[in-house]
Amino acid sequence: MIRVNKYWKEYKLSQMWAMRRNKKAEIKECDEDFKEKLVVITGATSGIGYYTARKYALHGANLILINRNEEKSFTICEEIRQDFGIECEYKIADFTRISDVQKVGYELLDSDIKIDILIHNAGVYSTKKIFTEDNIELVFQVDYLGSFILNYILKDKLKTQGNTRIILVNSEGHRFAILGLSLDDLDWEDHHYSGLRSYGKAKTAQLLSMISFDDYFKDSEVSINAMHPGSVKTNMGENNGKIYRFFKHHFVDRAAKSPEISAQALYYLGVSNEINGVSGKFFRLTSEEEPAPPALDREVADELWSLSIKLGGLE
Ligand SMILES: NC(=O)c1ccc[n+]([C@@H]2O[C@H](COP(=O)([O-])OP(=O)(O)OC[C@H]3O[C@@H](n4cnc5c(N)ncnc54)[C@H](OP(=O)(O)O)[C@@H]3O)[C@@H](O)[C@H]2O)c1
Repeated sequence: MIRVNKYWKEYKLSQMWAMRRNKKAEIKECDEDFKEKLVVITGATSGIGYYTARKYALHGANLILINRNEEKSFTICEEIRQDFGIECEYKIADFTRISDVQKVGYELLDSDIKIDILIHNAGVYSTKKIFTEDNIELVFQVDYLGSFILNYILKDKLKTQGNTRIILVNSEGHRFAILGLSLDDLDWEDHHYSGLRSYGKAKTAQLLSMISFDDYFKDSEVSINAMHPGSVKTNMGENNGKIYRFFKHHFVDRAAKSPEISAQALYYLGVSNEINGVSGKFFRLTSEEEPAPPALDREVADELWSLSIKLGGLE
């Protein structure tokens, strides 16, 4: 209860106005090429990740895609190679398995490639409380823990190689976690589970991890920023039941835009000189915005850091 009051006091009307303004703001564009650079993207088999991979390839970047589906990955890499003549590789990791994410993380760590941009995009929305084989709630593991594990494994390599931008594809949905995280109840025994709540908490956790990684990367050439990719029509949520899908197709998708706008924003945030030296910030597409108060709680960020190291088997 004390925590609820603490956050409520930090909500400001000016933030609401800024959100309204940013919703209508023009999406900035970057026309510079990114030839011979390497971009790593998770969840590039559909939606935002797929269009982002194509956008970077169009500008000459080489790609490593981290996906869970071998067949889709093969087809997409073939398509992108043929369309743009760049190098496209893929690695397979199902983010519901910590061991898969670790394996890919250590492969990237051990290789001598330089990563110029690392885009954490893989995500899921679930109306049902589901636990992975690691016994962690699905959305927390896929939308948050996977990105933490990769960043944690790669953090020293990135610092040494210099000049890397990490981008977290987050969401305005983090604002659904009005009460913040409940790190002592990650299995939702004492809290009522809902899709919005689990999604909000996972995205809030990712923003809290951004605070800690940003501290870690201080005085280096590595930056880490997060973004809301707009409300765009993708496969997100298609894994849920009929009622949810009916609601999505008839209401959410009708107002949603093309994920090409998200790709445009992710290109700008990754390449534009205007983002040089910018780190630890949340953007709605290309407009900087203040996250909700629970996503700015440094005390919880510290607790989450230690817990994530344990959960991710990184001790
Ligand atoms: N769409 C929106 O309006 C919206 C708004 C705010 C934020 N976002 C965020 O944008 C990101 C991309 O979502 P999207 O809208 O493009 O949805 P999408 O079309 O469903 O794409 C999600 C991607 O994540 C991958 N993925 C899902 N579960 C995975 C797992 N267990 N292991 C590895 N990869 C997995 C999917 O792979 P498969 O193809 O194998 O399923 C797919 O490549 C997510 O982080 C989402 O939260 C989206």
